[in-house]
Amino acid sequence: MNLDIKDNNKVVFVTGVSSGLGLEILKAFLEKGFKVCGTTRDVKALEKVIPKNPNLLLLQVNVLEDASVQEAVNKAIAHFGDLHVLINNHGCAVIGAIEEFSVEELKDQYEINVFSVLRVIKAVLPHFRSKKSGQIITVGSMLSTAGTGIMGGYGSSKGALAILTESLAIEVKPLGIKVTGWHPGQFESKINDNQKRVKEVIPEYNTNQRVEYYLSHKFQTGQSKPEKQAQLIIHLTQIENPPVNIYIGSDSRLFAQKKIQSMEQSLKEWEPFTTFDALN
Ligand SMILES: NC(=O)c1ccc[n+]([C@@H]2O[C@H](COP(=O)([O-])OP(=O)(O)OC[C@H]3O[C@@H](n4cnc5c(N)ncnc54)[C@H](OP(=O)(O)O)[C@@H]3O)[C@@H](O)[C@H]2O)c1
Repeated sequence: MNLDIKDNNKVVFVTGVSSGLGLEILKAFLEKGFKVCGTTRDVKALEKVIPKNPNLLLLQVNVLEDASVQEAVNKAIAHFGDLHVLINNHGCAVIGAIEEFSVEELKDQYEINVFSVLRVIKAVLPHFRSKKSGQIITVGSMLSTAGTGIMGGYGSSKGALAILTESLAIEVKPLGIKVTGWHPGQFESKINDNQKRVKEVIPEYNTNQRVEYYLSHKFQTGQSKPEKQAQLIIHLTQIENPPVNIYIGSDSRLFAQKKIQSMEQSLKEWEPFTTFDALN
């Protein structure tokens, strides 16, 4: 694959840049000479570890607040004079079996992984619509494609985000705006440090043991390294037709394939139900 940079004269807005994939995206775009605006919840902490760079604007943002997000987008456009690419990277995981979730806990998961992403998209779109160009990449997950035990709250939030992203792609394509859902498999980051567990424990689900098993087996497959992902994300900003969905890593591919297989099996097994006539 040709990863040459044809045009680094772009301003990139990335959310959640203090660690993991967001930090690697920030570093990779800067290294290639792009202008980068990175948002974080704690700009002072980040300024201590990221060297000053005229191409970098770090902004303290609370993605849960409309005003904070809009102010950051306005500052980025005012500072660099334009904005070309939005990468909605921020996200976190709340872990538990579905029955163990309170409605409030699931709402909190959706607040971060879905509603705050929509907030950033809405803050950027008027600018993109006005100039009839722009690109949006939302970081989803391999878990957006299929249900899993103990990760269903997180997976369902990423599933909602995936459909939101796909729908947006259809709606804004005629307006000259490109949209991609980025669905990575597992990779090392601070996501486990940032994870929360639901408060209620229902012993039958063995959630704690399953979490321990999951964490001890994490990173044994897949390993779509964040540095490499960052290079591929740069590539998406260089091509005419970026994909609407892209699955990153062998584990993400396996998840997508299993989903396709299970849908095909269901369609075959229950074929009479899939024709309108059979339901009459
Ligand atoms: N690691 C994996 O295995 C994996 C797999 C598939 C998808 N993903 C997705 O990849 C994206 C990046 O995650 P990562 O793995 O790089 O994890 P990470 O190191 O925890 O980075 C996630 C970033 O999101 C922000 N964030 C975390 N919790 C937040 C909260 N409660 N409120 C607001 N912002 C919050 C943080 O940014 P600031 O501290 O700068 O505010 C943090 O740097 C996420 O969308 C995640 O769901 C990760």
